[in-house]
Amino acid sequence: MRAQALSARGGRALEDIMSLTPIGGHLFDRSGHKVTTASLRDRKLHRDPITCITAYDYATARLVDEAGAEMVLVGDSLAQTMLGYENTLSVTMDEMLHHVKAVRRGVKNALLIADMPYGSYQVDAKDAILNAARFVKEGGAEVVKLEGGERRADLIRRIIDAEIPVAGHIGLTPQSVNVMGGYKVQGKNLGGIEQLMRDAVALDRAGVACLYVEGIPREVAAMITAEVSTPTIGIGAGPDCDGQVLVFHDILNLTFGPPAKFVRRYGDGATLVRNAVQGFRADVRSRQYPSDEESYHLPRETRAALETVLARKRAMGR
Ligand code: KIV
Repeated sequence: MRAQALSARGGRALEDIMSLTPIGGHLFDRSGHKVTTASLRDRKLHRDPITCITAYDYATARLVDEAGAEMVLVGDSLAQTMLGYENTLSVTMDEMLHHVKAVRRGVKNALLIADMPYGSYQVDAKDAILNAARFVKEGGAEVVKLEGGERRADLIRRIIDAEIPVAGHIGLTPQSVNVMGGYKVQGKNLGGIEQLMRDAVALDRAGVACLYVEGIPREVAAMITAEVSTPTIGIGAGPDCDGQVLVFHDILNLTFGPPAKFVRRYGDGATLVRNAVQGFRADVRSRQYPSDEESYHLPRETRAALETVLARKRAMGR
């Protein structure tokens, strides 16, 4: 049967013949580097570390994508980094969508993940699916992320049933800040470890595309990573995860405060911006900006005509 199917189609495998040429769509740039949920799994299998970074606007998204990050997360951390809120609880669906759309325009190859904000999935499953679909349909996200362990497994299954890949997020989940009584490392005792393992396994079975693990001991993150088939993406979870995520503003010193223990700074954006703005201001005040070369000029004929008009006016005593 299989031989017949092959020979009738000139010996090419069925899946080659069935694959469609994508029509339009910037998601397929034909470079062969487009990251997908399937390629994330391949990376886990091949122990090829995954880099994820947050982005919240077009320019940053382009830079992050062009620098080769495999995943771009429009995190609800934009509540603090972009909007100046106290924590992530205030940010709304519309605010998140606004940023997801901008990031979509800047990302070509990386997998684009949109964070579901607090209140958009905790209340009602139907609302959660509709909100997840808005991120895909209006925002162009490829995966949605939501926080919580085994108690979210059924909801995650329902969202996946609606053809929307889901990223899980367990451990220190910032949307639970009031329940946790602060941003505290989770899974530090045997009960906590057992709960985290149950959470990880439940979400893996529910079919998450990847699992963010935040603020947990390195040993526990390593156990989870070994146990689940989905890639783990760590933040404050040690080096044994399948990938690492950091907040863009953290790696560039744009957070106006001391960094968390796990943050490594790769640049000083604050100093760069301050120096640039102070330099501009100094040039404006000393009239060194703009120079003649940075100015537009009249065409020669217009200038000559203008001089004639002005000379005539002067001669007429005006
Ligand atoms: O919102 C965010 O930036 C996140 C990451 C820290 C995982 O959820």
